[in-house]
Amino acid sequence: MAKVAIMGYGTVGSGVYEIIAQNSEKLCKNTNGTAVEVKYILDIRDFDDHPHKELFTKDFNDILNDPQVSVVAEVMGGLHPAYEFTKSLLEAGKSVVTSNKELVATYGTELLDTAVKNHVNYMFEASVGGGIPVIRPLHQDLTANHITKIAGILNGTTNYILNEMINNGSTFEDALKDAQEKGYAERNPAADIEGHDACRKIAILASLASGYEVDYSGIETEGIVNITLDDVKCADKFGGRIKLIGYAEFLENGRIYSLVSPMFIPDECPLAGVNDVFNAIMVTGDCVGDLMFYGAGAGKLPTASAVVADVVDCVKHEKSPKKILWVKPQKELMADENDKQFAYFVRACDSEENIKKIFADAKIKPGAADGEMMFITKPMMAEEISRKLNELQKTVTAIKVLG
Ligand code: HSE
Repeated sequence: MAKVAIMGYGTVGSGVYEIIAQNSEKLCKNTNGTAVEVKYILDIRDFDDHPHKELFTKDFNDILNDPQVSVVAEVMGGLHPAYEFTKSLLEAGKSVVTSNKELVATYGTELLDTAVKNHVNYMFEASVGGGIPVIRPLHQDLTANHITKIAGILNGTTNYILNEMINNGSTFEDALKDAQEKGYAERNPAADIEGHDACRKIAILASLASGYEVDYSGIETEGIVNITLDDVKCADKFGGRIKLIGYAEFLENGRIYSLVSPMFIPDECPLAGVNDVFNAIMVTGDCVGDLMFYGAGAGKLPTASAVVADVVDCVKHEKSPKKILWVKPQKELMADENDKQFAYFVRACDSEENIKKIFADAKIKPGAADGEMMFITKPMMAEEISRKLNELQKTVTAIKVLG
């Protein structure tokens, strides 16, 4: 019997409890015969009406000091006290699984190292892509590859908002409220709409793919707050979709170019068809070529599904923990904007003739309003696009194109 504790009984924590209770037979088969049972649920709130209210505790030490507890699911979110709790649990010889992307992106290097030193597991499949298996494939199934590129829709809330705006004509505010009611948005939705959530997730994926800590604070990050309904409609008319993309390219010089930004996705790219709260992650490996991982990126049961899969993996690997590691880089790891060219989708107020003079070969179409044009440029460096945009009478929007 494996005794499990759940820390945090919010959207994901209650999902973890439900899955373990409902699928106990299936889980037992998948652990090769070890039953999995929840012994504690840690939460500062009262749950007096819960049918198993005896499982609840407000005292972390009940979990830490119970030798029967071998695996802990940390689904409380935030950095503190999640960091202190996780560190103590790993040092006490307990495996920890988590959906906490903020914690993994910030303290992942140290916590993974602590797990290895204490011969336990620290797993975080649910931290990126909700229910989509992507951490395990990157760590395990793609191990023969050098990963060359990762580009993904990593935030369900913003994808939901952009989708509601284009398909149902919702305002940004109404769509956000809807996402909050459905339990997709972060406690502070600024983390979603300003791109910080996607930034942490691409940092985790890039760290895993490269083996080096990618410091999320060094990733240029822009959210969707400046995207208007007209931008979304114009992109649609031009043959594309605007999506918030987490991007990492592993350059031949050993550096990583990474950013989070709204991008124009041409309709023929599979990411353009990813709607609602779904996430999709395109991974390119030097041997395997292009792969795409797709599924529910947020929500109670999809995220809990990934957490429970890690619980099962910890039970199976109790005696031979999986060694997942990345280390701090010894030299500058991150490339800057001068290492990467992008094409741009531009909305501008100027004559077709003038636009053609500045952007030769641009395919130009009428924009949203009278006197407005839209076009896609050839790939160029950030410095060149900003110089050229300054030559136009007025630029309404300039968005990178995912190539
Ligand atoms: N707020 C996150 C999202 C939850 O919308 O994707 C899942 O990490």
